[in-house]
Amino acid sequence: MLQFNLIAAVCENFGIGLNGDLPWSLKSEWEYFTSTTKRRRDTAKQNVVIMGRCTYLSIPESKRPLAERLNIVLSTTILPIELPDNVLLFPNLETAMKHLEQVNVCENIETVWIVGGSGVYREAMFSPRCHRLYITRIKQNFKCDKYFPKIPNDFKQIEPDLETPTGIQEENGIQYEYTILQK
Ligand SMILES: NC(=O)c1ccc[n+]([C@@H]2O[C@H](COP(=O)([O-])OP(=O)(O)OC[C@H]3O[C@@H](n4cnc5c(N)ncnc54)[C@H](OP(=O)(O)O)[C@@H]3O)[C@@H](O)[C@H]2O)c1
Repeated sequence: MLQFNLIAAVCENFGIGLNGDLPWSLKSEWEYFTSTTKRRRDTAKQNVVIMGRCTYLSIPESKRPLAERLNIVLSTTILPIELPDNVLLFPNLETAMKHLEQVNVCENIETVWIVGGSGVYREAMFSPRCHRLYITRIKQNFKCDKYFPKIPNDFKQIEPDLETPTGIQEENGIQYEYTILQK
């Protein structure tokens, strides 16, 4: 069974988004997201980022699709013509995963990342396919209108991998910490 990891930045009141955008501006955190979701051992393979329609549309047009990764959008309303040719569209997460599991597709894929938003995170965390949660804990409250779901109890924090900066990070006076949880 093809697994996936999830990556999210979450503030103290569990918010992840406001008005279709991130509630904060943290350049280094965005760079961590980019390098983590791009990282692979076999450069002949590709990583995948799976996201809901609103998350895809929240990425500035100049930065989407996310470079050097296969972008998959989940939506039941958007039309394929509204997306670039190199972005795949599926009506739900399991159909997307079944597509990626086809032998001729799977052999070219290294890591699948779930990158939001709220509903996709919820479905992903309860899936047996979910391996790790890469959660940036932002140590401040922010006004938000989208929230990260409650993390199931079977995920436990593990030691960060070698590529993950350890300890408290700080940018624009905002403190945050990278954490990794595993089932
Ligand atoms: N802090 C972070 O790490 C982070 C990460 C990602 C996003 N965000 C923020 O979160 C907000 C966007 O997230 P959101 O929760 O509002 O929306 P979202 O999950 O990105 O998009 C919701 C839409 O995606 C489609 N969708 C979601 N789950 C689906 C599923 N399982 N199957 C089929 N379609 C599915 C549906 O589209 P249809 O209605 O077309 O069917 C749904 O209306 C933005 O503010 C963004 O900046 C933050």
